[in-house]
Amino acid sequence: MTEHLNTVVQILPRAEARRPKSRRVPGVGADEVRIANGVSVMAEALIRGPMQPAPPGETRRDFLYLTTGTMGALATAVAVWPLIDSMNPSAEVTALTSVEMDIDPIAVGQRLTVKWRGNPVFISHRTAEEIAEARADDTADLPDPEPDSARVQRAEWLIVIGVCTHLGCIPLGQKASDRRGQWQGWFCPCHGSHYDTSGRIRKGPAPKNLYLPDYEFLEDAVVRIG
Ligand code: FES
Repeated sequence: MTEHLNTVVQILPRAEARRPKSRRVPGVGADEVRIANGVSVMAEALIRGPMQPAPPGETRRDFLYLTTGTMGALATAVAVWPLIDSMNPSAEVTALTSVEMDIDPIAVGQRLTVKWRGNPVFISHRTAEEIAEARADDTADLPDPEPDSARVQRAEWLIVIGVCTHLGCIPLGQKASDRRGQWQGWFCPCHGSHYDTSGRIRKGPAPKNLYLPDYEFLEDAVVRIG
């Protein structure tokens, strides 16, 4: 997480925010991406795209970690994540906040982490193969039985809270170079829990599948979490 502390969130006019794009920001060491409803994000390791070579250890534009601005009461106050953290909003304010974003820039096969209510939320733009594997295992011997269809609103988008249901570690798997476990979903190295491409626990001490946040699609590729 520390490598992402230079993440900066700023507010832009709504009209500008509708068209996602990124640019390098001199002096900040981060790229900027614009997401829905007037929120733009400067994120280290943002979509590097085919135009730039991936650094050692990353195979392609596989990793995007954004700390997004929360909407509503917090939105106008957002500056940087450490600031958000230090603001320590009341439970009432936190309960009202939501994250609204355009996920269209997330390529098929790419995974994005969004900070929401203090927790990472994993957004996975699943490949056809990942979807097929998740569905094929609906009838497998699952520790926490749940069909894939009950865990997604749209098959290509899996959105889960990225906190291991054992003791709360953050599983690996958001980077293509990460260990993703036996079922190619996520792997929690703390005690060895394996999650599949539906975020279901398959092996290890975690008792439950990765939890699902409340969310809804406002448009084809605009989602509101919370
Ligand atoms: S916290 Fe994930 S396996 Fe223990």
